[in-house]
Amino acid sequence: MRVLGIETSCDETGVAVYDSEQGLLGHELYSQIKLHAEYGGVVPELASRDHIRKLIPLIDQILGKTDSKKRIDALAYTCGPGLIGALLVGGCVGRSLAYAWGVPAIGVHHMEGHLLAPLLENNPPRFPFVALLVSGGHTQLVEVTAIGQYQLLGESLDDAAGEAFDKAAKMMDLDYPGGPQIARFAEKGVPGRFKFPRPMTNRPGLDFSFSGLKTFTLNTVTEHAQANGLPDDQTCADIAHAFQEAVVDTLVIKCRRALQQCNMDTLIIAGGVSANDRLRVKLEQALAKINSRVFYARHEFCTDNGAMIAFAGCQRLLAGETSPLAVDVFPRWPLDTLGAL
Ligand code: KG4
Ligand code: ZN
Repeated sequence: MRVLGIETSCDETGVAVYDSEQGLLGHELYSQIKLHAEYGGVVPELASRDHIRKLIPLIDQILGKTDSKKRIDALAYTCGPGLIGALLVGGCVGRSLAYAWGVPAIGVHHMEGHLLAPLLENNPPRFPFVALLVSGGHTQLVEVTAIGQYQLLGESLDDAAGEAFDKAAKMMDLDYPGGPQIARFAEKGVPGRFKFPRPMTNRPGLDFSFSGLKTFTLNTVTEHAQANGLPDDQTCADIAHAFQEAVVDTLVIKCRRALQQCNMDTLIIAGGVSANDRLRVKLEQALAKINSRVFYARHEFCTDNGAMIAFAGCQRLLAGETSPLAVDVFPRWPLDTLGAL
C-alpha cells in the first residue's frame, strides 16, 4: 500500500510517500520558522495561510520525485492535536485529494505519528516499550504494548519541555524556536557557574513540571541584568548549559523510573526535544547501567514531518481503518483514547 502523508498541525508543512513494501520513498518539508521568528512564536492565522500556499506545490513535488503520480493507494493527514486552522488545511486537502482519486483517507493523531517515528529507522525497537514524548506541546511518558495500545504513565502538569526551552530562550533574547538555540549555546557553556533545580524528581511518580525552571531562568537573567547589565554571549551559554542539564537530568530520572515501574528495557524518545543530543547521550549512559536501550528517529523525523504521518496512517489503513468523507479535526485529543489496531 502506497500512502501520501500530510502534516500541517503547527508551523511545518510536511509531505511524504510511504510504501508498506518498499518503505519510505521520500519526504519534503517546508518550515515556517522565518515567518514566525519576528513574533517570537507561532501566529496561528499566518500558519494556516502559509500551509495553504505551500501544501499543494509540495505534494506535487513529492509525487514527482517518488514517481507516485496516479499510484497513491491512500491519504493520511494529521487531524489533531494542533492549531485548528492549520489542521483544517491538511485535512481538507488530504480528504479532497482522496475523494478525487477514489482512494481511502485517514486522519492521524499527531503524537502517534511522533511515537511511531523511531520505527522508520533501521533496527527499529520492538514492542513493548516506554515512550517519552517531548515536543512543543506535550511531555508524556506512555506505556506502549502495541500500536494503538497506549497507557499514560505521567505528563507535565504545566509547560511542555519544548515550551520551556522556547520560553527560556526568549528570556535570553535567543531566536525562535528556542530548543535548538539553547542546545547550541549550551555547548559553549561553563558547567557549574549556574545551578538549576531538577523539578519533581525527589517525590515518587512520573509527572513533570517545567514552569518552575522557567521562573528560575527568568530570575537568573534578571539578577544578572541588575548586577552586570544584559547577559553577554558567554553568560547566555552558561545559563543555557545549566537549563539544559536540568531539563535533561529530570527527563532521564523519570524515564529510568518509568522503565523500572513497567519492568521494561526499551525506551523510545520522540518529538522535537528528542532531537537534543545531550538528552540522547545522557539517556544512553543512564540506561546502559540498567541494561536498557533508548531508540530515536533521525533528527529530521524528531521535529514535525510528513513521514511519520504517512507511516502511522499506513499502519491504521492496513488494519482496515478509514475516516469518513466529512473532515473532522481535533485541536485537543488525548493519545490514550486511540483504539488498538
Ligand atoms: O515535535 P515538534 O516539532 O512540534 C510539536 O509537535 O510541538 O517540537 C517542537 C519543539 C520546540 O519547542 C523546539 O524548541 C523543540 O521541539 N526542539 C528542541 C530541539 N529541537 C527542537 N528542544 C531541545 N533541543 C533541540 N535540539
Ligand atoms: Zn510535533
